[in-house]
Amino acid sequence: MSAKTDTIAIRTAFSEQFNLKYPIICAPMFLVSSVKMVVSVCEAGAMGTFPALNYRPVERYHEAIKEIKSLTGKPFGINIIVQKSNKYQQRHLEIALEERVPLIITSLGNPKEVIRLAHQVGTRVYCDVIGLEHAKKAADLGADGLIAVGCGAGGHAGEISPFALIPYLVRQVKLPVAASGSIVDGAGMAAAFSLGAAAAYVGTRFIASAEAEVSEEYKRAILSSRPEDIVNTAKVDGFPGNFIRTKELEAVGLETSLGEEILSRSKRIRRWIALSRAARSLLADDKSKVSYKTVFSAGQGVGLIEGILPVAEIIQNMVEEYRSVKAQLP
Ligand SMILES: Cc1cc2nc3c(=O)[nH]c(=O)nc-3n(C[C@H](O)[C@H](O)[C@H](O)COP(=O)(O)O)c2cc1C
Repeated sequence: MSAKTDTIAIRTAFSEQFNLKYPIICAPMFLVSSVKMVVSVCEAGAMGTFPALNYRPVERYHEAIKEIKSLTGKPFGINIIVQKSNKYQQRHLEIALEERVPLIITSLGNPKEVIRLAHQVGTRVYCDVIGLEHAKKAADLGADGLIAVGCGAGGHAGEISPFALIPYLVRQVKLPVAASGSIVDGAGMAAAFSLGAAAAYVGTRFIASAEAEVSEEYKRAILSSRPEDIVNTAKVDGFPGNFIRTKELEAVGLETSLGEEILSRSKRIRRWIALSRAARSLLADDKSKVSYKTVFSAGQGVGLIEGILPVAEIIQNMVEEYRSVKAQLP
């Protein structure tokens, strides 16, 4: 490492694990993350990731990994939905391991097999969790780190404030914790690191980037929305997720029916409905009525996002602001 790099790197347990300059993860986002985005993030010194389901058929996913590897030598990650209804998960895993992808992020299910097989080839596994129960299970299974998904995150959000969740998991589970939920700038990053996080897991901020392959309408909605416009609803795919209030979202019907209310009183039924709806939605074809194609998911950090920038600039701004916030703390 050169003297220059040494003075500007931000060292945490996460950046050490992957030999990264900045402990910032551009979070996997369904229908948002792209090869271009992953490569730009990696080249800017952070960790680029994408959901395996973004590329279908599976051969295209394999090509995407190969393309990333041909364009950057830096570490990157993929996200696998490890829920039973994801019929592609086995292939997603096999290909990721064959290609020696450095990081796998698991969400929505049991990461046991992923961890077991990944460790045979030196791939690290971070698991999405929203509370201590899942965090402990992931730790017992040998996870290399956790993603603490707090309330206010884009996509499927947790229910606990990141202010409580991050230090709680850091204290209870001795693993590096990446903080997810409404981090869009250097102040958010400084807050997460103060709470003990080893990485900032940032999604929504990168939707308003030059590299995000989403409609201009979506990017503009990110810029014009306020935290008050973010609605938490399970109506889109069965799991509570955060979305921008739009006509399309309201058309989904945001009120809970009496039948749903009764069913949701049973934890097992609620979980079963949620898992099957979520997997169906992620696997849905173009004819599905509501999906991440028709409604815009975003976290509560939207109110702080001011411009559509190249990802390298977003990362540089975050790092500079982080340093100045840190220096000015009372
Ligand atoms: C549009 C969108 C799609 C997402 N898709 C996925 C996904 O496919 N898999 C996943 O694990 N998380 C997904 N997430 C959650 C992110 O990985 C991350 O946890 C979240 O964006 C962090 O909160 P923030 O958006 O407030 O920064 C998605 C988030 C958004 C905004």
